Amino acid sequence: MKPTNWNKEENYSIVFWNQNIAQMWVDTEFPISDDIRDWNELKDSEREVYKKVLAGLTGLDTMQGGEGMPLIAMHEADGRKKAVMSFMGMMEQIHTKSYSTIFTTLITSEDTDYLLETWAPGQRNLVYKAQRIGDYYRALLKPAASVYERYMACVASVLLESYLFYSGFYYPLYLAGQGKMTASGEVIRKILIDESIHGVFIGYIAQELRAQMTEQERERVAEETDILLADLHANETEYTREIYGDIGLVDDVLRFVEYNANKALMNLGLETVFTPAPFSAIVQNGLSTGTTNHDFFSKKGDGYVMALNIEKMTDDDFIFA
Ligand SMILES: [Fe+2]
Ligand SMILES: [Fe+2]
Repeated sequence: MKPTNWNKEENYSIVFWNQNIAQMWVDTEFPISDDIRDWNELKDSEREVYKKVLAGLTGLDTMQGGEGMPLIAMHEADGRKKAVMSFMGMMEQIHTKSYSTIFTTLITSEDTDYLLETWAPGQRNLVYKAQRIGDYYRALLKPAASVYERYMACVASVLLESYLFYSGFYYPLYLAGQGKMTASGEVIRKILIDESIHGVFIGYIAQELRAQMTEQERERVAEETDILLADLHANETEYTREIYGDIGLVDDVLRFVEYNANKALMNLGLETVFTPAPFSAIVQNGLSTGTTNHDFFSKKGDGYVMALNIEKMTDDDFIFA
């Protein structure tokens, strides 16, 4: 038994814990129905892209919440770091659910069933991505894992969260940057903000593990990371062509994906490998829309505020006489 003592001299977990709490949100507080008009005005080919990217993201968040975070947390000895990972895993489940919240407002349940139960599980690039990342997670399914195994699982996790989500994030941001589908766009922005803190945190953990390695082990993981990145990038390029081909956005999505691949490498403390030209200013705009009040009640956007200091309820509160 090893009770977590949060009052011990500080490691950086408390900073991440507080930041995670401060940016916590839930899907049901975003007014997705505000997007219905925009949705109906999109072309069929555009709706198709939107649905598919959200279905793909649902699969990746499901995996991160159900396998990635819990398995990495299981081998973390520091109780506070473990707690941060568990909190992040819980947010993955909110991310996963939020795509369904968007779907339930915009499309039929038959269409949702098809996307999540048939299309995504059968899309070869998504399957490949999940397998390649998931293999590193499932290597941790045992009582004791090596530093090498834990490190590579963190590498896989950072690549997933800081890089492989972005082919999916692109389209909602691209539309939001033009003032379309802005409520759903804000949900995606909330997810993206979460993923950036997750990527930094797990990147830190990875760097700590790497510091424990011998020079030889470091060479081994560097080589393996290069191969993993090259494989994933070829797969991501193919996925992007398949999803975005019909609407003419392939090249810009790839620039955005490469930009984020560099960020993932920086989170891991590694050299960047891509030199992409700047991606569309519209996406940049979608990234920085900030809060727009959707209506009089200013339903939650980027200015989402959590009530943190709530007065305790007592039995007296339930005496109404
Ligand atoms: Fe997520
Ligand atoms: Fe995440």
